[in-house]
Amino acid sequence: MGYLGDHQFCATCLLGLEGLVAQELRDMGCEGVQAENGRVLFAGDERALARASLGLRCAERLLVLVGEFEARSFEELFQGVKALEWEGLLPKDAQFPVSGASLNSQLHSVPDCQAIIKKAIVERLGARYGVSWFEETGPVYRVRFRLMKDKVSLMVDASGAGLHKRGYRPAATQAPIKETLAAALAMLARVRRDGHFIDPFCGSGTLLIEAAMLARQIAPGLGRRFMAETWAGSDKGLWKQERLAARERVLPGTGFSAEGFDIDPQAVELAAQNAARAGVGGQVRTAVRDIADFDGASQYGCVVCNPPYGERLLDVESARELCRVMGRVFARKRGWSYGVITPEEDFEELFGRRADKRRKLYNGMIKCQFYQYFK
Ligand SMILES: C[S@@+](CC[C@H](N)C(=O)[O-])C[C@H]1O[C@@H](n2cnc3c(N)ncnc32)[C@H](O)[C@@H]1O
Repeated sequence: MGYLGDHQFCATCLLGLEGLVAQELRDMGCEGVQAENGRVLFAGDERALARASLGLRCAERLLVLVGEFEARSFEELFQGVKALEWEGLLPKDAQFPVSGASLNSQLHSVPDCQAIIKKAIVERLGARYGVSWFEETGPVYRVRFRLMKDKVSLMVDASGAGLHKRGYRPAATQAPIKETLAAALAMLARVRRDGHFIDPFCGSGTLLIEAAMLARQIAPGLGRRFMAETWAGSDKGLWKQERLAARERVLPGTGFSAEGFDIDPQAVELAAQNAARAGVGGQVRTAVRDIADFDGASQYGCVVCNPPYGERLLDVESARELCRVMGRVFARKRGWSYGVITPEEDFEELFGRRADKRRKLYNGMIKCQFYQYFK
């Protein structure tokens, strides 16, 4: 057992992905899984945290939920924070910067909340450790607060860099899709272990890589470290065991293949490099090709893509034209499915067919829909 006994954890995620993250956690054997807006709560110990850190594909960040309560005044905030058991997590030499956000709450001044929370933690720990001054020279426990409709959540960031930082994409082309969203799209498209995956607008290759990692059961966190590992009393052996177990679950990937195309030769080159870095170079093939020359001749295929949006790349009319081209080349055919994430409101009209399924998602700040065709 590590430094963490039973705790409440919080996995934050992009709006619209809560159900997927909850399912991922249940599949890992986590308990008390509860999906809310933009986050999923679950219970567990350090092992559950390690497993989730290494394995979650669609979550943005993992945090220890220290406590929640209602506060409408600074005094209520101060007393509420002070009443929490910070000493259970933060050692005497902890560095604990505080940051957060407030939404639809009476306490709306973030800097004031920040200062009060810091003061309350200092008082609590000061009394427990018998000191009045903290050097803050030890491990980092980034305290995050969220005020939502007067409800305060106090958390400590267990991830450090966001979970989308897998380590395989040091370089990206313009407008890359976030790794966590790419993984979610691959999951929604039901990528198969023996499937054939295609991204005709592959850019830096994120969708290809996430699909290949999903198919081969490669844990997305295997190539990086997490903040919780640096904490006092962290059980190094436990993290090692979880890494080993994750490595043992990796499939050789003999049946799976992915193809990525793009009109930009640099993007194609970069996608291949990123795939190799992610350890899926053997499954991913890339080539320069215009969407107009899309080849759907093979027996089956699972297409997922985020074409250029008028906002970031190309102008609006060219982006709309690409939707029409997709409608022509993505033929309705047994064994084939297509998924397109786009903010284009009349995508279905341009594409020429009603989607079999539609889901609202955010690509960064851009409100999009994921249109799926599989019938
Ligand atoms: C939004 S980006 C895709 C980003 C990618 N998912 C990633 O993670 O990096 C769109 C890509 O479409 C490519 N593109 C633009 N017009 C194209 C066309 N006619 N055919 C194929 N690719 C095209 C661009 O070069 C760009 O890399």
